[in-house]
Amino acid sequence: MTQFWKDQRCTEPPVVEGDLTGKTVIVTGANTGLGFEATKHFARMGAARLILGCRNTEKGEAAVEAVKQVASAPEAIVECWYIDQMRMSTVIDFANKFKADGGRLDILVCNAGITSFKYEVSPDGYEAMIQVNHLSTALLSVLLLPTLQKTAQDTNTMPRLVIVSSAMHYWAKLQVKELQQEDLIKALSSEEFCTAANMKERYQVTKLFNVLFTRALTAHVGPSFPVVIDTVDPGFCYSSIRNDISSGLVMGPTMFLMEKLFALTTEVGSRQLVYAALAGKPDEMRGQFVSFSQTREVGDFILTEQGKQAEEKLWANTVKILSDFSPDAKAVFQEVLNA
Ligand SMILES: NC(=O)c1ccc[n+]([C@@H]2O[C@H](COP(=O)([O-])OP(=O)(O)OC[C@H]3O[C@@H](n4cnc5c(N)ncnc54)[C@H](OP(=O)(O)O)[C@@H]3O)[C@@H](O)[C@H]2O)c1
Repeated sequence: MTQFWKDQRCTEPPVVEGDLTGKTVIVTGANTGLGFEATKHFARMGAARLILGCRNTEKGEAAVEAVKQVASAPEAIVECWYIDQMRMSTVIDFANKFKADGGRLDILVCNAGITSFKYEVSPDGYEAMIQVNHLSTALLSVLLLPTLQKTAQDTNTMPRLVIVSSAMHYWAKLQVKELQQEDLIKALSSEEFCTAANMKERYQVTKLFNVLFTRALTAHVGPSFPVVIDTVDPGFCYSSIRNDISSGLVMGPTMFLMEKLFALTTEVGSRQLVYAALAGKPDEMRGQFVSFSQTREVGDFILTEQGKQAEEKLWANTVKILSDFSPDAKAVFQEVLNA
């Protein structure tokens, strides 16, 4: 809490500068909040092509117009592409559309996310936060990894894959009973593991999954892979992410007060997404957790024996689910990730 206080009240992360001339950037959840602000930073830096992955294309098209206003590349291409992370088929369509283009991909920021205390099951059969925040994020990352890799080889650069997690993962851990489940993801999606008490902690768990998956993916690609994969905490920011949990007699006033005292604007928070996408020496950023313009130690649970078990189980379960869902993901797991 002391660190949180210091970060939120005393540290304003600087704006990151960079030159993205000729480069292509994809940001999911880019119509609003942190994704939108990060996309504007990338446009300001001269990106040649920006793709905003959005589930609501009307909002996405409005964001495209705003991004075009700040784009510094004279012929910048700014587009909104449909993706609804509640349905993995749309993630596959999104990735296929991009691969069919055959263009380069320099930065992929997997930012789309939700939080809720309600138990909801996605059309694919998974608890909604697990699906949107983890499974679809992982699927898009895996499907576009070969494109990032090819860009590295063709252009002699080091593309980046950024997965947006949160400092909330510090508060998450998995119970022994949860870790004993053969299929952790399926179990956590079931009614038995989605009690009202568990749902209050589910967002943190999915953000823990983001960090665990980033570490596992980094370990599987190995240290000489030409793409840097990292994960980032934008800080506690004003945005619509907490709309579903900020009502009621306790949460309403608590969130109101927390935001008044501590929240950063999404523009300030988005600087961290840009930092994770551009700053630091590539080899020092691999698999790292970025927060307030530095790499920071991950949550204690991750470093325990149980945390290691959780990482292995999450990886194995994710590989199985995504491979069953998508032959292309299966091929990447087998050919690129030795899974
Ligand atoms: N704000 C914070 O304090 C904070 C702190 C730590 C981490 N984060 C993380 O930062 C990321 C962005 O959050 P934010 O604060 O910018 O929240 P936000 O303003 O609510 O933006 C979330 C974005 O994700 C999109 N999204 C939600 N469900 C989706 C789905 N099924 N398919 C595709 N896109 C979907 C939203 O689209 P719609 O506009 O259509 O809903 C929106 O564009 C999240 O991963 C969040 O966990 C936020």
